[in-house]
Amino acid sequence: MIMHDQPLQNIKNLYRKAFQTNPAICVFAPGRVEVLGNHTDYNEGFVLSAAIDCGIYFAIAPIPGNTCRLIAADFETEVSFDADNPTPQTDAPWAAYSMGVHEGLREYMKQPIAWQAVFCGTVPRGSGLSSSAAISMATARAICAIADINPAPLDIAKIGQMAEHRFAGVRCGLLDQLSSLCGKAGHLLEIDFRTYAVTPRPLDARTSLLLVNSGTTHTLGDGVYNERRSDCEDATQAFAQACPHPVSALRDVTMQEWIEYHERLPERTAKRAAHVIGENARVQEAADALLRGDTEHFGFLMFESHHSSMVNFENSCKELDTIVDTARQTTGVLGARLSGGGFGGSAILLVESAQLDSVCESLHAKLKPLLGHTCELQRMHPADGAHILDM
Ligand code: GLA
Repeated sequence: MIMHDQPLQNIKNLYRKAFQTNPAICVFAPGRVEVLGNHTDYNEGFVLSAAIDCGIYFAIAPIPGNTCRLIAADFETEVSFDADNPTPQTDAPWAAYSMGVHEGLREYMKQPIAWQAVFCGTVPRGSGLSSSAAISMATARAICAIADINPAPLDIAKIGQMAEHRFAGVRCGLLDQLSSLCGKAGHLLEIDFRTYAVTPRPLDARTSLLLVNSGTTHTLGDGVYNERRSDCEDATQAFAQACPHPVSALRDVTMQEWIEYHERLPERTAKRAAHVIGENARVQEAADALLRGDTEHFGFLMFESHHSSMVNFENSCKELDTIVDTARQTTGVLGARLSGGGFGGSAILLVESAQLDSVCESLHAKLKPLLGHTCELQRMHPADGAHILDM
């Protein structure tokens, strides 16, 4: 259960200080952690994720005229933009997510609306917990409330995704937005990215999620994410020609077919496909393990997932490998892997709850000399999705 009282008070105070009046609505949207299923979302595959207990607080009110004002309290910066024609500003890249969402929601409104808002966050920046999706989903929930519109969650998620594609240049899937919107306290979300069915699965109470921030800046904006996505598209085309059945995404290819046909693909493309196909199988196996209460097997699949990121998808980094390796040798850790896009950010660990304290102590001691700095460790509680806190 997240204690929202203090941050809620804080965001209201920030709003009053900035605009000398009260907000109409305050919203919270969580970040997300990807527990299993890496780069499977845009391949129409499967993911196990969770909304988490840190995120974005967003206070808003409608205003007359057609200029929106948005303040990022954490950066102490303000942007203004034309409510009818938002254009991204290079000096305030964070504003792109809200502006993109504003634009996407305009078609749902009878009349365009202008607003003023302030937001601040509790997601550690660059940690790979998708603060950007939390900003866009908080903005969406807030605008929907003041404009009294009610698009379906999938449509809201797609508007957030478009904001990332168009304004931030990252061709992401829908994992971050759907997790931030649909989270359920105490549960992992099993998401099928072909049907968009979201099934909450209780996280075994004997286990806890522990996040280890590598301290390596995670930024997907420099093209590596998009490159991986293109590789997957190339692989899809190649398998569509090789397989005796229709293939519209890597979701349609089995590991048996990969073994049979992969030599027809360039080596790199084949490796990318092996990762995604393997991840899809692992997520389904892990969902079964979760139902059976087989936490050890679940953890084993997390280690396998990381290994595949390392050797096949090549989206890990030295620091993340060190963390996962160290975790593997620590009593009480059931599984560990990188979480999210990769290339930095955080590792997620599945830990026996009874051993959480000793695991943290041991990881702190072992990782400091290996990484050269003290590692940030944070227990993550699966949380509810984006919602209104106060009207
Ligand atoms: C980032 C993207 C998601 C997803 C993950 C990798 O978080 O935003 O859409 O592709 O990487 O699984």
